[in-house]
Amino acid sequence: QSSQGGCPVHHSGGSCPASELAAAFDPFEGPYQVDPAEALRWSRDQLPVFYSPKLGYWIVSRYHDIKAVFRDNVLYSPRNALEKITPATPEAMKVLESYGYAMNRTLVNEDEPAHMERRRALLEHFMPENLEAKQEMIRRLTREKIDGFIDRGRVDLVEDMLYEVPLTIALHFLGVPEDEITRLRSFAVAHAVNTWGRPTPDQQIEVAHAVGRFWQYAGEVIEKMRADPDGQGWMHYTLRKNAEIPEVVTDSYVHSMMMAIIVAAHETTSLASTNMFKTLLTHREAWGDVCADPSLIPNAVEECLRYAGAVVAWRRETTAPTRLGGVDLPEGAKLLIVQASGNQDERHFEDGDKFDIYRDNAVDHLTFGYGSHQCMGKNIGRMEMRIFLEEVTRRLPHLRLAEQEFTYLPNTSFRGPNDLWVEWDPEQNPERANP
Ligand code: HEM
Repeated sequence: QSSQGGCPVHHSGGSCPASELAAAFDPFEGPYQVDPAEALRWSRDQLPVFYSPKLGYWIVSRYHDIKAVFRDNVLYSPRNALEKITPATPEAMKVLESYGYAMNRTLVNEDEPAHMERRRALLEHFMPENLEAKQEMIRRLTREKIDGFIDRGRVDLVEDMLYEVPLTIALHFLGVPEDEITRLRSFAVAHAVNTWGRPTPDQQIEVAHAVGRFWQYAGEVIEKMRADPDGQGWMHYTLRKNAEIPEVVTDSYVHSMMMAIIVAAHETTSLASTNMFKTLLTHREAWGDVCADPSLIPNAVEECLRYAGAVVAWRRETTAPTRLGGVDLPEGAKLLIVQASGNQDERHFEDGDKFDIYRDNAVDHLTFGYGSHQCMGKNIGRMEMRIFLEEVTRRLPHLRLAEQEFTYLPNTSFRGPNDLWVEWDPEQNPERANP
């Protein structure tokens, strides 16, 4: 199979009609799993909105169409954003029911006017002045992790830093007790597979048990937190709002959000940071430039989010018949809007498939979504990525990627390698020569 966006049906390398490419499109395997932007190059050029019979969704691949969809959250409702993309089998449904699983609206999948009212009520914690105070903690945690491996010469950056630091920051931001890190890890993977993956019927049962346990665990955490009415963090604040304005910040919201936010705040940032190091270390010149001049870091972070974002596709559903990218869509059409493809669209980004930390419109990427649902945590995510890069480039400028096969969790939306092995010569560590 070609990873160059060629036809996954005809292996001869010849061109293929767009209708056949549309029929063959499968986001769970093949070219999309290798490189989602490249896999949809043909669509950006020939058929920017197409129906995928394998998925039952309309795929949207151009920058301006994706932005138009994000912009109008009434015509394009976000209500399906957290739906199971692979419908549950009756057996899996039974398992979920046995845990009282009732995942419902949070913010990301809530319609207006409820969404905006709730978002406004819960926005304060995300204000820049509240985030500044977190900087020092992020830097301290990052330094401690680097101290732990700097003399080793070889490390899986995910295992030794990029998984745990964002999780600790997320739990701290939310005010969730930090004593359950290992359990949370298996829960988060199950939630991602459940929502964006294509588990086999057998895996569905396993995943349903993990998701059911995650749901119950989220309920227990809420009860623990309620017992501490003066607790710090966004979820404590949310619980106080739940008591104050229960019709806006509902009980169902609180329980659903408790489960969704751990993935929203943590998995996204871990994957984005992993993608960032992988991308920079494979573009050695850019890595060298960033090491030599840290003032390049903020734009390098944006370019990494554009070129190799952690959220590569999101979902919407039409609430009325409409026309998009020259194609008529019926009411109730489910859309997979592929930000990774929009982010490399030549129509908005010159040489969009080239990685360029000096790009002046990198920040226009759609990785955080756009419009009224745009990621509330985007500045926390950016801040973490920036600090990780500042610390690693300063202390390990001679870092290089180790030989390895990268593996990914097959799903439509969350993207980043499971491991990232890096190497360096500890003898060359700048702090040894210049302690
Ligand atoms: C929404 C991506 C980090 C909290 C979203 C959306 C995306 C996204 C694509 C949907 C946007 C839309 O529908 O227009 C990311 C990425 C991150 C990240 C790539 C890291 C690099 C975070 C963090 C937090 C967070 C750290 C919290 C601490 C949220 C919330 C929403 C959201 C609450 C819902 C906003 C709404 O619907 O009004 N994020 N996110 N995210 N994100 Fe993030």
